[in-house]
Amino acid sequence: MQAKQRVLTGITTSGTPHLGNYLGALKPAVAASQKADTDSFYFLADYHALIKCQDPQTLHRSSQEIAAIWLALGLDTDKATFYRQSDIPEIPQLAWFLTCMTAKGMMNRSHAYKASVDENQRQSNTDLDQGINMGLFSYPILMAADILMFNAHQIPVGKDQIQHIEMCRDIAMRFNHTYGEHFVLPEAMVEEGDSKVLSGLDGRKMSKSYGNIIPLFAPADELKKLIFQITTNSLQPGQVKDPETCTLFEIYSAFASEQETLAMRNAYANGIGWGDMKGQLFEYLNEYLTPARKRYDVIIKDPSYIEAELQKGATKARAHSQPFMQRLRSAVGIMSFVGGMESKHSGSKVKKELTQQEQIKADAGKAKAVAIAKQRAEQEIQEVSLKVDALMNGIKESGDAKTAAITAMTQLKLQIDSAKKKAKKTLQLTLELLEKRLEN
Ligand code: TRP
Repeated sequence: MQAKQRVLTGITTSGTPHLGNYLGALKPAVAASQKADTDSFYFLADYHALIKCQDPQTLHRSSQEIAAIWLALGLDTDKATFYRQSDIPEIPQLAWFLTCMTAKGMMNRSHAYKASVDENQRQSNTDLDQGINMGLFSYPILMAADILMFNAHQIPVGKDQIQHIEMCRDIAMRFNHTYGEHFVLPEAMVEEGDSKVLSGLDGRKMSKSYGNIIPLFAPADELKKLIFQITTNSLQPGQVKDPETCTLFEIYSAFASEQETLAMRNAYANGIGWGDMKGQLFEYLNEYLTPARKRYDVIIKDPSYIEAELQKGATKARAHSQPFMQRLRSAVGIMSFVGGMESKHSGSKVKKELTQQEQIKADAGKAKAVAIAKQRAEQEIQEVSLKVDALMNGIKESGDAKTAAITAMTQLKLQIDSAKKKAKKTLQLTLELLEKRLEN
């Protein structure tokens, strides 16, 4: 049993986080990371980003921006484990194990995939899978690997992700059933009510796909411009206005205190003008966001600081993922043939960073060693089988085959008992082969 609750969540690095992302995910995550009884794992889901973002510069830029945002919001990276998904090679390895535990039928029912199929249907495309890559189709499996790799208990996500957490539980159960209890079953942590879904410039849900977002750290002049673009009705100053159906009020109250919100409600009843309200919303948000935005502006210009933070996180994360993956590999039967140990070439040993040249040299050295070992093994097999041939001949030619066979085996066993390590292995192999041949 792990004493602390593990909270884990990732942000796909294919866009610019907006005010809605801040309220719904970033702010609660940073707050959770400060609690003493939780262990938090936050990461940049850059492998997920590849599914929909095939522009290398956008993906790279977005990763850097999102990392800088977490840091600017005050994430304590000594307490939380903050990393980049792609720095943890065990995650895609686990994703493959899980892929082999996932019913295709379940993936057919995934909302993200079905939405694309529905869109093709709507457009009367003859191929309903048009434009859909396997990354999108198996998206929930990679997400399950993110979660199960760290045996996280709670996953703060938006409502649209609940199905993915359920699929993750299903996959984990199937793995546990097949290979033994290795995974904790995670639970989705969803903010109650709809209040946390923020509206965008046009009044629809704030979302990159609607092009109606207010980026979290937009510079002040851009923030002002965007706020003044928010759709309102045509009521004049002095006319009573309904705060409940107003995007400006909604955004204001999501940030303001209860008292401030109440005061604003009165202003609506007293017929505040839209221009006035927009000005007030801008002033309020700008003041609220400026300290973090200032930190962001400094951090985003310091890529080596961001990288160092992520590497620190990757080291912490791999302290879990490496030994755990080793255990999982053994559980499924992928391990060295010697001593039930992990194979040396599984790549799970901690290695220091090598330069490209060192890497080429190391790879060449490894390849040579493997080739020599292979040659030796083949030689050994040949020698052993010649020896077994000779023994079989002797047995056949003796008058009493049964006694001769027993004698040959007893002699081998005696030799094995007194032999040194390497010779012992060869003799054991000889005995095994002989036994097989005698059975046939
Ligand atoms: N799919 C999530 C999203 O788009 C991002 C994500 C990837 C994630 N892996 C995760 C969230 C694991 C929680 C846990 O919002």
